[in-house]
Amino acid sequence: MSDSPSYRTAVFGATSAIAGETLRALLADRPAEILLIGRNADRLETVAADLRARGAVCEVHATDLLNPDAGWESLLAGKEWDLFLIAHGSLPDQDATLADPHATGREIDINLISPVRIAAACARILDKQQKGTLAVFGSVAGDRGRQSNYLYGATKAALETFLAGLRHRFADLPAVAITLLKPGLTDTPMTANIEKGPLFSSASKVGEAAWKAIHKRKSTAYLPGWWRLVMGVIRHLPEFVLHKTKL
Ligand SMILES: NC(=O)c1ccc[n+]([C@@H]2O[C@H](COP(=O)([O-])OP(=O)(O)OC[C@H]3O[C@@H](n4cnc5c(N)ncnc54)[C@H](OP(=O)(O)O)[C@@H]3O)[C@@H](O)[C@H]2O)c1
Repeated sequence: MSDSPSYRTAVFGATSAIAGETLRALLADRPAEILLIGRNADRLETVAADLRARGAVCEVHATDLLNPDAGWESLLAGKEWDLFLIAHGSLPDQDATLADPHATGREIDINLISPVRIAAACARILDKQQKGTLAVFGSVAGDRGRQSNYLYGATKAALETFLAGLRHRFADLPAVAITLLKPGLTDTPMTANIEKGPLFSSASKVGEAAWKAIHKRKSTAYLPGWWRLVMGVIRHLPEFVLHKTKL
């Protein structure tokens, strides 16, 4: 561990497997004080115990991440933050979700509306501080609408556009970084029902790459990096070719 000062981090959706691995990679690099935010108090405590054993100073805050009245700014007020990490997300069965208008709205809430609300509150704090990083998990799924995941993909594409605009908004403040983290298929609870193949990465590999991207203050990072090439090909497939695939 380095002698650098404690890195103050707030994580939304802190029980995410990839977020947990990102925090482990952070802690292998430097001491950190971490606020873990999520919906399930018991699971947050489990994550906190693991991170404390790795040297972190942890607090947990259980709340409904979808609640527009949650008052994120007041929760985070009074401290200077190095990193805000937004990690919650959901990938349920698409056909069943689209067949139910309430479930459809709820998925858009989890994957887009809630992260946007929280990112906006974090951005106001970064603006006050004039420094710090906001890192948000998008997905390679946002790169092209495909039959297998176009609801989830659409929310991640919209999130990417929002973050690109936020990055533009902060372009004259080089001490503020807005980082979009784009994992490809990763072996976590989110993909438990998907058959694993060669394109899958472990959560630890993706988490380590996520921390590197945050540390380097990247604008956008594919996790692992080779997904940039894969998605470059998929993005440029003519529609008549794409439509012959089951992608
Ligand atoms: N795994 C992949 O293949 C993959 C690929 C690309 C992008 N991503 C993105 O990476 C991020 C982390 O995913 P992961 O793979 O680490 O998934 P994960 O381990 O399944 O974690 C999902 C997280 O989202 C939270 N969550 C789900 N629904 C919620 C709700 N309604 N309200 C509040 N929190 C909710 C979960 O909380 P609970 O613990 O309380 O359930 C958990 O913290 C997500 O944004 C995901 O979209 C994942």
